[in-house]
This record gives sequence, structure tokens and C-alpha cells, in this order.
Amino acid sequence: MQKACVIGWPIEHSRSPIIHGYWLNKYSIDGSYKKHAVKPSELTTFLQTLDENGFCGCNVTIPHKENVFNQIIVTDPVTIEIGAVNTVFIENGKLYGLNTDGYGFLSNLKSITNWNSAEKACAVIGAGGAARGIIAALKNDGLKTISVFNRTFAKAEKLATEFGPSVQAKRFDDLAGFLSETDLLVNTSSLGMIGQPPLELSLHNLPSHACVADIVYDPLETELLRHAKKNGNKVVDGLGMLLHQAVPGFEKWFGIRPEVTPELRDLIVADLQKEKVL
Ligand code: ATR
Repeated sequence: MQKACVIGWPIEHSRSPIIHGYWLNKYSIDGSYKKHAVKPSELTTFLQTLDENGFCGCNVTIPHKENVFNQIIVTDPVTIEIGAVNTVFIENGKLYGLNTDGYGFLSNLKSITNWNSAEKACAVIGAGGAARGIIAALKNDGLKTISVFNRTFAKAEKLATEFGPSVQAKRFDDLAGFLSETDLLVNTSSLGMIGQPPLELSLHNLPSHACVADIVYDPLETELLRHAKKNGNKVVDGLGMLLHQAVPGFEKWFGIRPEVTPELRDLIVADLQKEKVL
């Protein structure tokens, strides 16, 4: 039986077992995928014994993504640019790492809209770990310009310096005025998430052809997406990214490229609602 898992600290809230469990069942694979709580102090030992403990790989979440990147082999150029790993697989007894977050974002965007990155301009809100993944994927997909708007300007500047001339740092307060030049607006910040303040932004200047994406998926429809819909823009919520980022790992571990289906999405939506009732 092929065994995979997701590691993090804490790990209780991970929805990855629902996603991979759905696919294991759908494709009748004799495999398992469980949550595994790993403390930071246990990470190195966990990785060193992954193979001998019978795992074919794992997903990695907070707070381990950067530490795993530093401890295993990474050959994928986008993952190297991101500097963090969310998927580990074993080949010839060696551990390899991938970051599929940006891939998940882009793959979801393309599955919902007719997005083509060539000659397009994107505005990214936020400059944390989630922004890094999305910026790397968009840059790699050929976007012309990626403007990063962050509350702490210095962090946006740091990203712009690291990613090169197609990525530019901008003042958060200049965002509303900048939207007229934007084909894709992405919120990667925690604004709009349950328990956080909403992202208050006038979309008045945003062209009607522009897409608006939020990586927040709880709530599924954030204030930003609600406004964007009203404004006539195509909207992309954060749940699709979560589902699509899981595809490459499942394929590496279990040998089948799985499909993101409406039924799978409904399972996670039901789980999000269940948590609110409890
Ligand atoms: P993640 O890894 O999920 O991206 P993170 O690294 O903590 O998480 O980044 C969170 C992002 O949300 C940051 O860009 C943060 O802005 P700062 O760099 O200024 O901290 C942004 N963010 C969080 N709360 C915010 C708020 N109230 N207003 C504006 N931006 C906020």
C-alpha cells in the first residue's frame, strides 16, 4: 500500500486528507493519506526516516515549508525561486521537493477563465509566502508586469529585487488608482479572511475584462469578490487553488493525474460549513 501524509504544526485544520482521500477512493487506489503532526524540532528526523517509515512522500505546511526546502533536493526552477516546499516525493531513495502553490493558482485560474498571461499586467496584494508562490508562477508563465502592493512597502521591495524587473514594488495607497492598468488583481494577504478585517478597495478603475482572484477561501465569497462580481469582473475564489495544488503530489505518489471535480469542491465546501456549525 502506498502511504503519503501532510505534515505541519499544528495540523488539525488541514483539508488535504479530504482531497487525497476522495481521489484514492475515486481511482480505487490501495493507498492512504493522513495528517501527521510534526514539531519543528522533529522535522529533520521525520524527513530522514520518511522512506524507511513506508511513506512515498508528503505535503508540507506551516511552519515547515522553508526548512524542508533547505533540507532536500530541489531541481524545479519555480520552486527554487519560491524558496519553500509544499510537496515531497522520493526517487531512487532520495527526497525531492516541489512547490505547487503557484501552479495550483494558475491552473485554477486557467480552468475557470480563458486566462493567457502573455502581455498581461497583474496587481498582487500582499508580499508574504503566498504572494511568493503566485508571483513565481505568474512570472514563469510570461506575465509582462507584476506590481506588488503591500502594507509594509519594504517587503514588496524585497520581492521586486529578488524576482527582477518584471516585478515592481508599489505603495498600498496607490492601488485603487493603478487598477486601470490591471488585467488580473490577486489578493494574497489575509485581509478578508474570517476574523480579519475586509479588504476595502474601490474597483471603480478596474477594466471590465479584468479577473479578480482571492486566495482566501473562508469565506468562499470575500468582500473583494462580491464587489468584483458587482463590478462585472470574472472572479476566482481561493478554494480552487487549494484543490489544484494537490494534483501534482497525488500524481507523483499514486501514479494517476487526478481530476478536480465539482463533487470534490462540494466536499470541502461542506467541511467548511460543518466547522461553522460546530
Ligand atoms: P502568507 O504566508 O499566507 O502569505 P504572511 O507571510 O504572514 O502569510 O503574509 C501575510 C500578508 O498579508 C502580508 O503581505 C501582510 O502585510 P505586511 O507585510 O505589511 O504584514 C498582509 N496583511 C496582513 N494583515 C494585513 C492588514 N491588516 N492590512 C494590510 N495587509 C495585511
